[in-house]
Amino acid sequence: MRHETETPATLDLFADDQPQLTGTERIGPQSVILRGFALPLSESLLPALRTVVRQAPFRHLVTPGGFTMSAAMTCCGSVGWTSSRQGYRYSPQDPHTGSPWPQIPEELVTLAQAAAEVGGFPGFVPDACLINRYVPGAKMSLHQDKDETDHRWPVVSISLGIAAIFEFGGFERSDRPQRLSLFHGDVVVWGGVDRLRFHGVQPIRQASHPLLGEQRINLTLRKAL
Ligand code: SIN
Ligand code: FE2
Repeated sequence: MRHETETPATLDLFADDQPQLTGTERIGPQSVILRGFALPLSESLLPALRTVVRQAPFRHLVTPGGFTMSAAMTCCGSVGWTSSRQGYRYSPQDPHTGSPWPQIPEELVTLAQAAAEVGGFPGFVPDACLINRYVPGAKMSLHQDKDETDHRWPVVSISLGIAAIFEFGGFERSDRPQRLSLFHGDVVVWGGVDRLRFHGVQPIRQASHPLLGEQRINLTLRKAL
């Protein structure tokens, strides 16, 4: 995969919250942030995501505890993750439409595989992609991704749009998390001994992105089955 650095038109060299454009940051024994890894694809990814979202619209899921999630969510893949008062599960149909979830766009599979390989997980074949949309103020509380069958495969998380502060914690909810800024095009890979770390997203700050406006889209690719 080719790597390009792209200088946003609005880059202010003196602000402290600007993207670091390339490079790998280790955030755990088997976890990395690949800065800008998705940038070469981000423009071709957006039309593919629009097609997915037309078939499987964003919705605000309710947790088993009865809270409505502030991030809107949809999925693509042979199974999709959903939450309701009955619990969390992966299912082959979108409960919203009764139809199978749309396929994962090919370029997204390729990107996730390449990122997983760089992160130390060759042979990753994702079968589920959760798509979260955050508007300013939306957040995601600390949680573990543990509804997948085989935890040997990593989670590959792609950030698009406005920035987020990602919390990457330990194995107890109460462990103090690292706070990591994620920008458009950044990819996080966590797996192996880090696979069940708690993680979340702090309330998104007001901002606007040239391609996506006032929103952040996060894609997490997993092998669920
Ligand atoms: C998630 O944990 O499913 C989403 C993480 C993120 O939005 O960065
Ligand atoms: Fe998660």
